[in-house]
Amino acid sequence: MTKVAIGSDHAGYPLKAVLQDWLHDNGYEIVDVGTDSEESCDYPVFGAAVGRAVASGSVDVGVAVCGSGLGICMAANKIPGVRGAVIRTAEDAELSRRHNDANVACFGARITATAEAEHALSVFLATGFDGGRHARRVELLGELDGEGR
Ligand code: RB5
Repeated sequence: MTKVAIGSDHAGYPLKAVLQDWLHDNGYEIVDVGTDSEESCDYPVFGAAVGRAVASGSVDVGVAVCGSGLGICMAANKIPGVRGAVIRTAEDAELSRRHNDANVACFGARITATAEAEHALSVFLATGFDGGRHARRVELLGELDGEGR
């Protein structure tokens, strides 16, 4: 069974709650790293928490939600081993998996409608990595992880 870490800031919380229910209803095991309300908080905290869960191997993939999907994805991507992708459409979801082996799906609650986000998440979770020529490029991405440290 696929184990999924999910986190958001306050702006992402309404969509996080919906996606969490969708994951539960579809049989996924969930690790909820917060937040748990619409009280103002800081997206880097929750993006990093999703990223750490994925990078440590304690979950298979992550879902991160903020208002735009952008800030929380930047935070998740700071964690070595994370390949977070901002997902606006089902095509983003499919390509991020097939070509980039994305392991964190980032959504913008103020940008993407609930039904579209649910559909895109289902595509993200159902799509495998193509490998082949893309494997070398994903390996090169991994080599960038330590840069600047
Ligand atoms: C919060 O207002 C908002 O800035 C945040 O959710 C996110 O969109 C940042 O990238």
